[in-house]
Amino acid sequence: MNNPARILIVDDERFHLNVIVGLLSGDYNVLIAKSGERALEIATSEPAPDLILLDIFMPEMDGYEVCRRLKNSHKTRHIPIIYLTAKSDAEAEAYGFSLGAVDYLSKPISPPIVKARVKNHLAYGQALRALEQQNEQLEYKIQERVLEIARTQDVAIHCLASLAETRDNETGNHVRRTQHYIKLLAEHLQNHPRFCDQLDADTIKLLFKSAPLHDIGKVGVPDRILLKPSALDQEEWVEMKKHAAHAYDAICRAEQALGSSSFLHSAREIAYTHHEKWDGSGYPRGLKGDEIPLSGRLMSLADVYDALISKRVYKPAFSHEKAKKIILEGREVYFDPDIVDAFIEIEDQFIAIAKQFEDGV
Ligand SMILES: [Fe+2]
Repeated sequence: MNNPARILIVDDERFHLNVIVGLLSGDYNVLIAKSGERALEIATSEPAPDLILLDIFMPEMDGYEVCRRLKNSHKTRHIPIIYLTAKSDAEAEAYGFSLGAVDYLSKPISPPIVKARVKNHLAYGQALRALEQQNEQLEYKIQERVLEIARTQDVAIHCLASLAETRDNETGNHVRRTQHYIKLLAEHLQNHPRFCDQLDADTIKLLFKSAPLHDIGKVGVPDRILLKPSALDQEEWVEMKKHAAHAYDAICRAEQALGSSSFLHSAREIAYTHHEKWDGSGYPRGLKGDEIPLSGRLMSLADVYDALISKRVYKPAFSHEKAKKIILEGREVYFDPDIVDAFIEIEDQFIAIAKQFEDGV
C-alpha cells in the first residue's frame, strides 16, 4: 500500500491548526508550520509535502508571500497550495490565484469541504505528475528514435559513399575532405547578402551530410574507364560524365519508391549539378550562373580544389598555391565569383582540412 500523502498545514493560530490536524491526521501524514519561514523550510526539505494548506494572515511573512516564494522555486512550484482565510473578497482571491494557488477554503472551515478539496487536489496533483513523467518518458523515447534514425541514415550514407570510393581507387579521403570544404564555405557565406536566405544551420547540416554522395553515380561507370591508368579519350569522357545523371536517376528512383526528404533532395541536387560551370560550359545540362543550385556551385569548388591538390593518374598533386591560382583563374568562368572570394578568405582552413584528412594517413 502507498504511503499516506504528506499535507503541510500552515497557520499561526493554535485553535485552527488543531482543528485541521484533527480532521486530516487519520488519513494523511500531517506536517505543521506556525509561521511562513517554517513553512518554507519544511516545503524545501525532503520528502516534500504533496499539498499545502496555507493561512493567509500571519505575522511577519503572510501566506501570499509564502505562496509566491514556493511558486518561484523550481523545487517547490509543483506543490498544490490551498489558502485558508477568514475573510476574502474577489480582488484578494484573484490576487491569491495569480500567485499560483489552486483553491481557497474559508474559516471557520467545513470539515466535509476541507476533506473533499484535499482529496481532489491530491488526486489532480498526482495525475498531473504522472502525466508529466509519461511525457518525459515519451520525449526520451522520441529522442532515442530520432537518434537511431539519424545513425541509420549516417551508416547508409557512409556505406554508399564508401562503395563509390572503392570503385574509384584514386579518391582516398576525397569524400571526407570535400564534405568539410563545403561546410566551411557554407558557414562563411551564411551572412552574405546573396546567400543568407539559403544557408541556415539546418541547410548547412544537410549539405555536410549529403555531400559524400556527390559521386555515387560513378558506380554506374564501367571499370575500364573508372580505373583506366591514363587520361580518358573523348568517348570515355562521355561515359564518365554520365555519373552525374546516374546518381540523379538512382536518387529519383529512391524518392519515387520511398518518398522524398530534404536529405534526398539535397543529395540529388549536389550529385546532379556539381559539374555545372558558371559560364554554362559544364555538364550534364550546361546550366549558367544562378541557374546552378547553390549546393552544386559550392560542391564544384570543393571538388575541383581537392582534385587539384590530389595526385591523379594524369597529373601530380598540385600545391595549394597552384590550386588557388587555377581557381582564381576560374572565377566567373567556372565558379561563382563570391564562392571563390570566400575560398580565398578562408584558404587557411582549406589547407588545415586537407592536412587533417590527408590521403594514406
Ligand atoms: Fe563528380
